Amino acid sequence: MSKIIATGSYLPSNYYSNTDLITKYNIDSSHEWIQQRSGIEGRYLADTDESVGSLAIEASKALLAKVDSDIMAEIRFIVVASMSSFSPTPSLANQVQAAIGATNAWTVDVNAACSGFVMALELANQVSRNYASGYTLVIGAEKMSDILNFEDRSTAVLFGDGAGALLLKNDGEQLTDYQHYLASASDDALSIHLEQTGDNYYLTMLGREVFNFVNRTVISSLSDFIAEHHLSYDYLVCHQANQRLLDLFAKKLKISHDKIPSNIQKVANTSAGSIPILLDQMVTEQLIRLDGTQSIILSGFGGGLSWGHLYFKL
Ligand code: ACO
Repeated sequence: MSKIIATGSYLPSNYYSNTDLITKYNIDSSHEWIQQRSGIEGRYLADTDESVGSLAIEASKALLAKVDSDIMAEIRFIVVASMSSFSPTPSLANQVQAAIGATNAWTVDVNAACSGFVMALELANQVSRNYASGYTLVIGAEKMSDILNFEDRSTAVLFGDGAGALLLKNDGEQLTDYQHYLASASDDALSIHLEQTGDNYYLTMLGREVFNFVNRTVISSLSDFIAEHHLSYDYLVCHQANQRLLDLFAKKLKISHDKIPSNIQKVANTSAGSIPILLDQMVTEQLIRLDGTQSIILSGFGGGLSWGHLYFKL
């Protein structure tokens, strides 16, 4: 079975508490409003000279520092999930390839907004079956601050920048006990889209409707997924959109909060970056071990609309 052998992540050095952000951008909001509605207390924001590509590269380098340097030449496939890239080509995955010298890889980007990492890992899992050896690098990276309108308080306070990465060791098979459910639906009433304002593209979101979509559609599809495959699992690692949503997952699935890890308090919503950043944190904190003894579910949801759940043994 192919296997995740290492994780890595990168958060920019500039940390903004809610109060710092409100002050810097003169936002008509308060720490209490943001904290009570979302659980967010702060976020990391990249410098202007850092691109989403450089965040993806830093996360990859953090991962590769944990493995033998010889493997660079054995990476067969690099996929980066992101919704905040302004570089159609070279893709973010091309940029990572060049920076780490993975000259024998082929590369592609995936955009499925906040579901991007789950979709990218699905692709990576399927593609890695074509390779009896070598490695697959899967990255989620976002510089949300490039697409945030800091005059729109309904979005500006919710997002952060960052990137996370996983390395799969290929062996011609998929991840152990792998199960998947992925879906997309086009629905403007419930969309998150970039809006052109002057020369800039900004993210806009119908927050209440997205909340309802997750409540009604995503959680029930996850509940069906778990029931259909009789899944037992150690952790449910969800996209970090809102602590209230994570609490709702726990309540509706009747599982303890300990089973649904969260880092939204300090990292905010990093879209496609959120799941791999959290996974790397869990590995560092030894909540999860990459030794075949634990099982996880990853659940992503967001713009498009798009949503998906993956289950596998670590
Ligand atoms: N500070 C203060 N007040 C604010 C702010 C703010 N930052 N933003 C909005 N408000 C005001 C609104 O103007 C509104 O005022 P009004 O009643 O006078 O009109 C009031 O607060 C309530 O606004 P709502 O949008 O109804 O607030 P709600 O309780 O729904 O919380 C939130 C908003 C946090 C966005 C919530 O709807 C949510 O989390 N939705 C899910 C969003 C999500 O999950 N997004 C991510 C998924 S996809 C992805 O990650 C890209």
